[in-house]
Amino acid sequence: MKLLFINGVNLNMTGRREKGVYGTQTLDEINAEIAAHLKGTECEFFQSNIEGEICTALHNASCDGIILNAGAFTHYSYAIRDAIASINIPVVEVHMSNVFRREEFRKTSVISEVCAGTIVGFGKNSYILAAQSFLLK
Ligand code: DQA
Repeated sequence: MKLLFINGVNLNMTGRREKGVYGTQTLDEINAEIAAHLKGTECEFFQSNIEGEICTALHNASCDGIILNAGAFTHYSYAIRDAIASINIPVVEVHMSNVFRREEFRKTSVISEVCAGTIVGFGKNSYILAAQSFLLK
C-alpha cells in the first residue's frame, strides 16, 4: 500500500501561521508523525503553493490512494477539481480545521464532488483518519 499526501497553498507555513487554528507543529513534523503512525505503509509527501504543480502531482501520482489538503485552493480551484477527476486513484479531501465552523467562504469546496470522501476538523489527525479510510478497505 502506497499513499501520497499532497498539501497545497500555505500549508508549508503550518506551525508558523495561525497557531490557534493549525497548531504549533511544522508540516515536516506532522509528516514524520504520519509516517511513524502508518509504518508498513509507504508514504510520500508533496507540498506546493503553485496550483499547476498540485495538478501535475495528481497527474503523475503512482500510488493506491491520495490524501489531499488543498488549502485555500479547495474553495475555488476548478483546475485541481478537474485534475482529481482526470485520474483513477481515489482522493480523500482533508482539512485540519473544521471549515464548517469558520468563515462562509470555507464552507464551499469545489473538489468534494470528485473526492472519495472528506475529513475535516481533527488537526493533524485528519491526515491519519483519511489514510485509515484506505487501510480499512
Ligand atoms: C485548510 C482550510 C482552508 O480553508 C485554508 O485555506 C487552509 C487550511 C485546513 O487544513 O483546515 O489553508 O485546508
